[in-house]
Amino acid sequence: MNKSSRTKKKPLKENYQLKERQKIEEEVFDKRTLLHISKIMKKGIISNLDYPVSTGKEANIFKATTPSGANVAIKIYKIMTSPFFRKQKYILGDSRFKNIRWNEREVVYLFARKEFSNLEICEQAGVNAPKPFFLEGNVLVMSFLGENGLPYPQLIQTVCKECFLDAIIQNIQKMYKAKLVHADLSEYNIMIAKNKIPYLIDFGQGIVLSHPKAEEFLERDVKNILNFFKKFGFTRDFKETLNKIRT
Ligand SMILES: Nc1ncnc2c1ncn2[C@@H]1O[C@H](COP(=O)(O)OP(=O)(O)O)[C@@H](O)[C@H]1O
Ligand SMILES: [Mg+2]
Repeated sequence: MNKSSRTKKKPLKENYQLKERQKIEEEVFDKRTLLHISKIMKKGIISNLDYPVSTGKEANIFKATTPSGANVAIKIYKIMTSPFFRKQKYILGDSRFKNIRWNEREVVYLFARKEFSNLEICEQAGVNAPKPFFLEGNVLVMSFLGENGLPYPQLIQTVCKECFLDAIIQNIQKMYKAKLVHADLSEYNIMIAKNKIPYLIDFGQGIVLSHPKAEEFLERDVKNILNFFKKFGFTRDFKETLNKIRT
């Protein structure tokens, strides 16, 4: 008997599962990300990382539990497959982020920091958005928007659309007053709570008003939202809405 026939081969399915698992672990939980998570646990911010609620291109969102048993959301920005390199225009020109080292990990950390900072501005300004709790590298801890461990639906998944339109515009206005533009607003980045309150999420691209393209991005946000509602027959005048937001 030769050596290779003696070593037991893994069944194909098991091999495939192992490869997939490795892929997921490498993409989401690279070594340094694991260190960040363990630091967050040691600090007593969370006691358990429970399960993923969303896996996206740029980040994965998990539900986690705090030592007192409350739910929180953890956003883990992906390092390996990050498309943020293409998004430098959202950083260059934002006066908060000067003298940046442009390596991949630093860029991803920067977007996490940016989202955290934007969520802080939202909290101060009374904008409906997740409350930022903690940031460690590419791992952001925030309030969990959901019920029974399940996230609220996105705007696109809800039925009664019109009831949210004015509230969304009001939130954009509050942000603008706080000198912030979301810059990636769409029916996917708005979650609708049980009590019909819309929450804006995904603030990594958010920029301050001094950014040279702030007004352009605001107009794009408003256009996205109005176009979405228009499909359901709910219309608002674009110019009037912008004026309202800017007053
Ligand atoms: N704070 C949160 N609480 C509960 N679920 C969330 C929270 N933030 C995001 N999610 C869920 O994760 C999804 C993706 O989040 P998002 O921040 O838009 O990341 P990305 O679009 O970059 O993947 C959301 O549509 C929502 O289902
Ligand atoms: Mg999103």
